[in-house]
Amino acid sequence: MHTMATLIAVANQKGGVGKTTTVVNLAAYAALKGASVLVVDLDPQGNASSVLAPDYQGPSLFGGAGILPVAGLDTLGVVPVGDDLIDHEHRFSDSAEAGRELRHRLNELCDPPDLTLIDCPPSLAILPGAALHAADRVLIPIQCEYYAMEGLGQILAYLQGMQEEDPEAAQLGGILLTMYDESRTLDRQVAAEVRAHFPKEVFSTAIPRDVALAAAPSHAQSILHFDPLTPGALAYLAVTKELLDGLE
Ligand SMILES: Nc1ncnc2c1ncn2[C@@H]1O[C@H](COP(=O)(O)OP(=O)(O)OP(=O)(O)O)[C@@H](O)[C@H]1O
Ligand SMILES: [Mg+2]
Repeated sequence: MHTMATLIAVANQKGGVGKTTTVVNLAAYAALKGASVLVVDLDPQGNASSVLAPDYQGPSLFGGAGILPVAGLDTLGVVPVGDDLIDHEHRFSDSAEAGRELRHRLNELCDPPDLTLIDCPPSLAILPGAALHAADRVLIPIQCEYYAMEGLGQILAYLQGMQEEDPEAAQLGGILLTMYDESRTLDRQVAAEVRAHFPKEVFSTAIPRDVALAAAPSHAQSILHFDPLTPGALAYLAVTKELLDGLE
């Protein structure tokens, strides 16, 4: 790997757009390709933790969590979430302060891996704000539905406001179309509209709607271990390549 250590926040204030699925599967494929990868679960829902560290009982990053190895992938680790995360969120006065502490905690844990992926909760509150302050880039998954462009506009405006205050805050690192169903006219229209507005930012690969991607978490597995030949798996493999190529 010749990748510069990169910290990527996977964020979208809309719920259920595929943030966690993207974090877990990008992390797995990047590790398979030999990158050192760390997933940080910054969502009190703990969905990424329940896949990558299903038996974990302990604090979150802000409460002193360490890095747990992930079964089946030597270069992948996870900082899982704990019930304390919400309490920590309340002690920060703003997301910039929380972002500084986030960076500080990560630096204490390890030398920066090739790729760090932060799974954010569906809001633009303190925790995702912290991730966006701390990260180099933000990857925004969007579902190809009617309100996708409005939602994208909101997070991009939020990001721009943040950069005006803090030039070190995350830059847009990519927009990923998720749960794409080519047989639906609406999906094709939305995808075309997003690609027309953001020709360079949208990954060429769209993640198709694939039940295997939804079933894998119930086995505490990434799609790489659950069913690597499904269309969803091949799509995440292709997106990982696009992402890593963009970082080299
Ligand atoms: N490409 C896909 N095809 C089919 N199902 C998917 C796909 N991507 C994600 N899902 C399923 O859709 C649901 C939402 O996905 P996910 O949890 O990744 O979204 P999220 O943005 O992290 O949600 P939240 O905002 O609650 O954190 C999950 O049940 C997941 O398994
Ligand atoms: Mg999630």
